Amino acid sequence: MNIKEVRLEELDPQRFIKEKVEEIRSIVGENYAINALSGGVDSSTVTMLGHLALGEKLRTYFIDNGLMRENEPEQVIALFKELGVNVILVDAKEKFFNALKGIKDPEEKRETITRVFYREVFGKIVKESGIKFLLQGTNYTDIEETVAGIKRQHNVLEQLGIDTEKEFGYKVIEPLIQLRKPAIRKIAEALGLPKSVYERMPFPGPALAARIIGEVTPERVKIVRKCTSIVEQELKDIKAFQYLAILHEDKVTGIIEGKRKLGFQVEIRCWESLDAKTASPTRLPYDILEKIAERITSEVKDVVSVTYNITRKPPSTIEAV
Ligand code: XMP
Repeated sequence: MNIKEVRLEELDPQRFIKEKVEEIRSIVGENYAINALSGGVDSSTVTMLGHLALGEKLRTYFIDNGLMRENEPEQVIALFKELGVNVILVDAKEKFFNALKGIKDPEEKRETITRVFYREVFGKIVKESGIKFLLQGTNYTDIEETVAGIKRQHNVLEQLGIDTEKEFGYKVIEPLIQLRKPAIRKIAEALGLPKSVYERMPFPGPALAARIIGEVTPERVKIVRKCTSIVEQELKDIKAFQYLAILHEDKVTGIIEGKRKLGFQVEIRCWESLDAKTASPTRLPYDILEKIAERITSEVKDVVSVTYNITRKPPSTIEAV
């Protein structure tokens, strides 16, 4: 691997920002650059670096895949507007849901989301814009895991020997490639991004689809979205690494409006972890768990069972898909 990591201890955030801004400016010159923002730490940091370097010459898109959390697209766009960055919202919900129809296999689901994003939505936007520079938030861990064959990170291209200029007609600029997550959080803070960004809990690329066992449909996303919102509200003061709600595929018998009827099962997970490679369930107070179950079964239609995962990773994973 020919990329040298910049470790957290040796990182000088202001110097790093200055260098990267100059580097982006010198590569892009008088041209435009384009990027996709998801609201995560990496893409938010890249957007701010690009904005500092290029101002109006950076075109930033938020792709609404229909799989985000409650009000997430609006909140991300509003936040960046406050920071002076204009973000273009693209409603691609239908494209993603159509492509996901009938797919139950986890890997196929993930591949479909990546394919629709790159080939059908963002890839097309880049092509049609004619812009020759793509800013991307690839980080050191993405490269490391891809090279080691642990994970095929969808944003890793050049390290796999793919010449993006030749293949897609644009050059990829990756200002965060030497940094791991903790260092990126430092840069995000130094860039003036709010705590809600630089301390943001991990959220997976496939978004809520990673928390739906079985088919991803608008109705099923709605259920998991509501449950996620309840869990995030109730656990916001718990200092855990990550917490989430999962919708199971199997239904179980419950009592709905006085009648025995099949209803949905929701699983809550809350993790202690340092790097997500291993994790253990948080020993949540029972009254918090009961309150979550109460709220989910009364606020989310037809959920009749709420369970709490007590398994470590491994053999569990943090998400369900
Ligand atoms: P798992 O479920 O593999 O998750 O134990 C480990 C950590 O990675 C996050 N995760 C992802 N992050 N793209 C990402 O950027 C993905 O496709 C993805 N899948 C899982 C997960 O939330 C957890 O923090």
